[in-house]
Amino acid sequence: MTLKTGRGRGHGKLILCGEHAVVYGHPAIAFAVDRCTRVTAHPQPGPLDVVCELDNPGLRMATAQIFGDQGWRVEIDTDVPLGRGMGSSAALAVALAEAHAHATSGDTSHPALMDAAMPVERHFHGNPSGLDVAVALHRKPMRFLRGPPMAWTPLRPCPWPLVVLDSQIQGHTRELVDHVQAQRPIVDPILNAIGELVDKVASALDNPEIVGPLVSENHRLLQALGVSTPELDHLVDLSLRHGALGAKLAGAGGGGVVFALMRTHADARALCDVANEAGVVAWTCQAL
Ligand code: PMV
Repeated sequence: MTLKTGRGRGHGKLILCGEHAVVYGHPAIAFAVDRCTRVTAHPQPGPLDVVCELDNPGLRMATAQIFGDQGWRVEIDTDVPLGRGMGSSAALAVALAEAHAHATSGDTSHPALMDAAMPVERHFHGNPSGLDVAVALHRKPMRFLRGPPMAWTPLRPCPWPLVVLDSQIQGHTRELVDHVQAQRPIVDPILNAIGELVDKVASALDNPEIVGPLVSENHRLLQALGVSTPELDHLVDLSLRHGALGAKLAGAGGGGVVFALMRTHADARALCDVANEAGVVAWTCQAL
C-alpha cells in the first residue's frame, strides 16, 4: 500500500428538531454549520503522534481507532465546541475517516466513509442514531431516519439567521441517551410527539414564522423527557424575550448549547449583544 499525506474534514451540526426520538426510529431534521474539524495525516515511523491544541483523551482514542497505534503523525484542528451538542465526535470521526482513506488511497465514497466513521461514534456514544455522522459527512440540511436501512433526504438550505448560546456545561450524550432509554416505555408518547412535530416542521421549512414556535415546542418536549437543565431553559427564555422566533436545546442536552432562530441578521446580532452583556457566550451561526 502506498502511503501519503491525507486530509479530511467533518462539519459540526445543529439538530433543528427530533433528537432522542431519532434513536427510536422517528425522523429528525438537522443541518451542518460553518464550524468544522480538519485532520491532516502524515505517514511517519514510530508510535502514533496526535497533535492538537485541545488536550482531550477522546481525540487520541478516536485517532488510534482509525489509524492504529503506529506509523502516523495526525494533526487535528477544530472549532466545533466539544460536548456541546454540536456533533463534535461525529465531525472528528468523519475527518479522521476521510484523512485515512486519502492517505492510504482507500475508498472515499460517502458510504465507505460512513462505515468507517460509525464505529468511532459508537465508541463515544454507545447507541448513536447516525444522524450526526450523516450530517458531518454530507454537509447538507437533511431529514434523517435511522432505519434500517438508514435513509436521509436532502432539504433546501435553511437560510435563517441563527444564534448559538453556550451553557458552557459539557453534556454527556451516552448518559442522556441511556437516561431516555431507561424511562421507556413511559416516555414513548413524548418521543411520538417529537416525531410528529418533525413532520410539521418539514412541511413548513420555507416559513420561519411557523418553524420557530415548533422549535420551541420541541424544547418543551425535551424538557418533558428530562434532558434539559435550568441553564438551558434560561437561555431559551432569554432568546424568546429578545426577538427569537423559536429556541431549543440542541443535541443530547444535559448541558451544551441552545440555538435561537431569528428573523433578521440585525435581530441575531442584537440577541448576541444582549447575551454577551449578560455574561453568556453566544455567537451568530450560519447553516450550510
Ligand atoms: O449531543 P450530540 O451532538 O451527540 O447529539 C446527540 C443526538 C441524539 O439524538 C440525542 C443521539 C443520536 O445518536 O442521534
